[in-house]
Amino acid sequence: MGRGTIALLTKEIPADKRILITFGGGSVKKNGVYDQVTEALKNHNTVEFWGIEPNPSIETLRKAIELGKQEKTNFLLAVGGGSVADGTKLIAAGLLYKGDAWDLVKLRKPITDTVPMATVMTLPATGTEMNRNAVISRYETKEKYGIAANYPVFSILDPETTFSLPQNQIAYGIVDTFVHIMEQYLTVTGVSRPMDRWAEGLLQTLVEIAPKIIDNPTDYNLMSDYMLSSTLALNGFIALGGVPQDWATHQIGHELTALHGLAHGHSLAIVLPGTMNVLRAKKGDKIIQYGERIWKIKEGNRNERIGKTIIKTNEFFRSLGLTTHLSEEGIGYETVNEIERRFNERKVAFGENANVTGAVAKLILQDRL
Ligand code: NZQ
Ligand code: ZN
Repeated sequence: MGRGTIALLTKEIPADKRILITFGGGSVKKNGVYDQVTEALKNHNTVEFWGIEPNPSIETLRKAIELGKQEKTNFLLAVGGGSVADGTKLIAAGLLYKGDAWDLVKLRKPITDTVPMATVMTLPATGTEMNRNAVISRYETKEKYGIAANYPVFSILDPETTFSLPQNQIAYGIVDTFVHIMEQYLTVTGVSRPMDRWAEGLLQTLVEIAPKIIDNPTDYNLMSDYMLSSTLALNGFIALGGVPQDWATHQIGHELTALHGLAHGHSLAIVLPGTMNVLRAKKGDKIIQYGERIWKIKEGNRNERIGKTIIKTNEFFRSLGLTTHLSEEGIGYETVNEIERRFNERKVAFGENANVTGAVAKLILQDRL
């Protein structure tokens, strides 16, 4: 991590590798990242694949896998945001898988063999640079699922690459980072003091830097703090020591993205306040701890404190310029019912208590209409 670190690619990737470099839609050509990568790898054997879209699709990734097989690729380098990195994780598995790579996603076939991959990250949000998750979509059926794929062998994080991010992507990225922490924090009290305070330290950092970043998106120190927070939010550390995890908000958010194309972080800003409200009986003690330590809410009875804390969380997301209700995005009952139907059909129940069934997801979404 740091300024100028893209140049390290030259020696980090062995000279004899046949590298497939993967990109998104072209932001890296405008901000100089592409030039830095090609300069660093000018003496390596490289092939490029362009066009991995936000919420990477199996339809596109199949083409990349075909190209990689033709070129006998034995190293992958993802250059871009979480979507390029996640897509490349699936390519890494797909290159060594005999069937259709969608099996690895939909049927959750275990991923055992992968081609080594690395990342150059240009968008802080997902933590994918230091975790093994990949979230893959299938556009033709409007599906989106997360899987355990593979870890990058290394990742490069130069905060200067983020200076070209538009405001909306920064807002989505901050919310995504915030909600990753919440999914591993907002469950029960008293499990782990160090992990609670680790999570709270990251939440406080985000609350402190977010308004400053909106005003100064090219401030190196601010973007550096944001980038590091995103990595630390979802690299497995907060979940150490048996900390319970939720992830219901993410699962509901994925459906909103699959059905309506909402950006990932935006879907979370809409859903999280509903999860907090509907599950306030079970999560109440932790919501009160979070409200007190992050938002300084100390007055009122239990219900009032919980209510104020949810309002503060919602206001934080709105202060980043995001809408937080389904109706503001033209989404209504039809979608609420469809998500309930999908969860019921898959017989899933998410959350730390495995109680977020289709019916509970419906209550959460109704709360956000
Ligand atoms: O495609 P290009 O032209 O590069 O533009 C991208 C894209 O349009 C642009 N962008 C990225 N870096 C930029 C930039 N524009 C200007 N300057 C830069 N420096 O931003 C747009 C969005 O990029 P994307 O990669 O889609 O965003 P993000 O990093 O938020 O990734 C979202 C995906 O990650 C998944 C999400 O579900 C979604 O599919 N997630 C992955 C996780 C993981 N692997 O652990 C966890 C998360 O919860 C999340 O689910
Ligand atoms: Zn996320």
